[in-house]
Formats: sequence, structure tokens, C-alpha cells
Amino acid sequence: ELRDELDKLEKQFTVTTEKLKEITKRFQEELEEGLKENGKNIAMFVTWVLGFPTGEEKGSFLTVDLGGTNLRVCWITLNGKTKDKEHDIVVKQDSYTMPGELKTGNASDLWSFIAQSLQKFIEKENLTATPNEPLPLGFTFSYPAIQDYIDQGVLQTWTKGFDIENVEGNDVASQLRSAISDFNLSIEIVAVINDTTGAMIASAYNDPDTIVGAIFGTGCNAAYMDKISNIPKLKGKEQIQNLSPDTPMAINCEYGAFDNARKVLPITRYDENIDADSPRPGEQAFEKLSAGLYLGEIFRLIILDMHDRNLFLKDQDITKLKEPYSIDTAFLSSLEDDSTDSLTQSSETFKSDFNLTFTEPELNFSRLLAHLIAIRGARLCACGVAAISRLTKTTTGHVAADGSVANKHPRFKKRWGQALGEILDWSGEDINKAVDETGAPIVITSAEDGSGVGAAVIAAMTLERWRKGH
Ligand code: BG6
Ligand code: GLC
Repeated sequence: ELRDELDKLEKQFTVTTEKLKEITKRFQEELEEGLKENGKNIAMFVTWVLGFPTGEEKGSFLTVDLGGTNLRVCWITLNGKTKDKEHDIVVKQDSYTMPGELKTGNASDLWSFIAQSLQKFIEKENLTATPNEPLPLGFTFSYPAIQDYIDQGVLQTWTKGFDIENVEGNDVASQLRSAISDFNLSIEIVAVINDTTGAMIASAYNDPDTIVGAIFGTGCNAAYMDKISNIPKLKGKEQIQNLSPDTPMAINCEYGAFDNARKVLPITRYDENIDADSPRPGEQAFEKLSAGLYLGEIFRLIILDMHDRNLFLKDQDITKLKEPYSIDTAFLSSLEDDSTDSLTQSSETFKSDFNLTFTEPELNFSRLLAHLIAIRGARLCACGVAAISRLTKTTTGHVAADGSVANKHPRFKKRWGQALGEILDWSGEDINKAVDETGAPIVITSAEDGSGVGAAVIAAMTLERWRKGH
């Protein structure tokens, strides 16, 4: 019985090379549509980060990061390149756990929490500032925000399970600014950035081969650099009047929203359930199939469904497993990688965390299921970067990646590289190199602290631009 179920699931979750290619083709079309007009499904937000850093950017900056697992505050000192060409960067940082209820609470609680965390950090690190010389801040806000200028951003819609009142439709920088002033802090918000842009710029500060910044974490998204002349929706905008058409512009794709029309993605009924029960049904279709927030949830829903059909965990109390989002990606990856005899380690976790006793066939089934879900996610993730590389006609370079799935799921990068090679028709040899994570034409690299170093480098680039009067 379990074998039959697994066969059925394998059919639903396997994404063939042909399907990957079909998805990538549509993906590229949606990226192009987003460059043409505002309000398209994939937003393709211009970020006003005008080009890659030189590596010479210097100065000290405060950074704050909202949108990943924790709220992180840093004080970053960029000292530029030293004699041996290595960069000298000093990072002081602290993380603040976001109370769960804040994620579905109200705007003033959110901004007060951030301002208060900044205050605690400033006191702890003894940073001094005066109203005349405020501390420059790079704000990493990793949600879809439309920007007319680099120091503002209007939230379009919350993603990744956030649902805070009175922020959508508003400029997040001005909301944070007013909380900063309520707390009497001398801070100037210089740049609002997305985590993908931060990952790309942090990486480019050291690595000239960087072509894309990608997050494979709680959410799934990427940024890349394009020329202004390739962005028709900017035509006639006052902000580009003095810029040459060749000026590079970082684009935050927001491609978690790919295929919200659900034309090509291999959506199962479990994915439909996740979507229906999410705060924003119909949105982030691609992200809901591929990002870390959802992988464990897909697993949980399948196990629950099998239990309802009396195929799994017969006569056991499944109360704890009924808790939404109670299985995280780290658990799925440890299940996949469990090398203990008879999967004892996973068996013990199911017992301690969910008070469930899995039989041996159930454990084996679970491991194969974790495998299917993770492979589908990694293969789909490759479509986004493949579409960017097609769009920009880029055939080589580094994809600077960050996020819990890229970093904590040991098999993600190989699966992603293999799928990328299949889509882009690489030779068998190049696909093997991708699987070794080295030497393939386009290779995934580790982004260096996008929301810290990246935000600081962007703040430094912006101050320099302002100093020159742009
Ligand atoms: C962090 C980056 O390492 O990864 C953040 O500094 C980013 O900018 C985060 O948002 C994404 O990962 P996750 O898994 O926390 O969503
Ligand atoms: C979600 C957000 C996006 C972010 C991504 C990764 O897709 O909408 O802004 O880059 O998650 O954190």
C-alpha cells in the first residue's frame, strides 16, 4: 500500500527536464513583461542601486534586516581593499528574536520593535551620533516594495506568512523613520534594499564574476543587474533624465510570484491547501512550491492526508502533527540525511517532537517523501536563474546564494546545479561540474552577508552618489 502511494506521489512531484524547460520559457516571458510595465505578475522592481561596487567603498554603517529568520542589527566598517587585495571588513552584530505575534500584528508594534532593537544595539556598542551627524542606516526589507528612490519603498503585499496591518500601500522607510524619531535616535535611513540585492552587491564587493544574488531561504527570489535601456517602464522617468542608457540598474525580480496564474507549475492538491490557508491565497505561487517556509508544511499535509485515509500512523494520537508549520526544513533535511541504523535518529525526533511512533516502513516512506519534496523544490529553483540567464544572455558567472535552504540543506546546491545544466543544455561534463559545485559555466557561490555587508556597501555607494549631487 505504501509503495503504491509513493509511486503516485513520485509521479506528482517529479519535474522532468522537458517540464523544467517549459517552466523556464514562461518564466522568461514573465520577467520581460515585468520590465515593460508596472503592476505585472513578476514585479521586476528597479532598486536604484546603479551598478556594481568598485570594492573601494569605505565607511561605517548601521544595518537592520527584516525578512529572514531573525531581526538582525549590525555595525559594519568597510575599510576597502588592503595591500594583499583582501577586503578588510569589521562586523559587529546582534540578533533579536521577533515575537511570533508581531508577524500578524499591527504596524506600530512592528516599527517600535525595530526602533527599540536599534536603540539596544546602539547602547550596547556605544555608538555615538548627533542630530547633525546621524548614523547612516541600510535597511534590508525583504518583501516586495516598489521604489521611486533608493531611500523609500512602498510595500505591495506581505509575503512569507507575514500579515501586519497598515503597512501595505505605505512607505516602509517613512514608517520606520517616525518610530526612530519616537525613540529619539539619530539615524538617517540611506537605503532600503531587498535581501537579494544585498546578496548580489555583498558578493560583488569581492567577486567580479557575480551575476545574480539569490535567496533560497524562507522565501525564494533573485536580483540581477540590467541596463536602463533594457527597462522600458523607466522611459520618461525624471530620475533617469541625467543617466546614460547604459547605466546599470539592479533589479529585484520578486519572482516568488511567478505563475500566479498557475499555467505551468506542477501544483499538487497539497500545494493548493497551503495556498488556501495562507494569509494571501493566490499569491507567491512559485515560492509556495520551492521555499523553505513551505517544504516541511507540504510534508506534514501529505502525512496527515495518509493518516486520514488510514494508511499511516494507525491508531496514534496525531494532535501535535496537526499544528500548522510544525515541521521545518532543517527537520526534512536531517530526515533525508539520516544515516543511523533503521533511521533511529528520525524515529526519536518524531517521538520527542510529535509524540508519534513511526513503524520502519513509515520511516522509510517519510525519508523518500522528504527527498521528493526537496528535489522538486531545488529543481524549480533552477528555473528562475535559468530564465534570468536567458533574458540577459549570460552564459557564465557566479550566483551568490544565501538563505537557510541553500546553506543548511546539504544536497540543495547539487540538485539545483544539475537542473540548471539540464535546462541550459550543458554538456554532461559541465553538469558533472555543477554537481561538484565547482567549475560549471554558471555556479552557485555563497553570498557574503547580504543584509550586513551588502546593505553597508549600498549605503556607501548611495552616500557617494548624493555627495556628487546625483
Ligand atoms: C541571511 C541574509 O543570511 O539570509 C538575509 O543576511 C536573508 O538578508 C536571509 O534574508 C534569508 O534566509 P532565511 O532562511 O532566513 O529566509
Ligand atoms: C520573498 C520576498 C522577497 C525576498 C524573498 C527571500 O519572496 O517577497 O522580497 O527577497 O522572500 O527572502
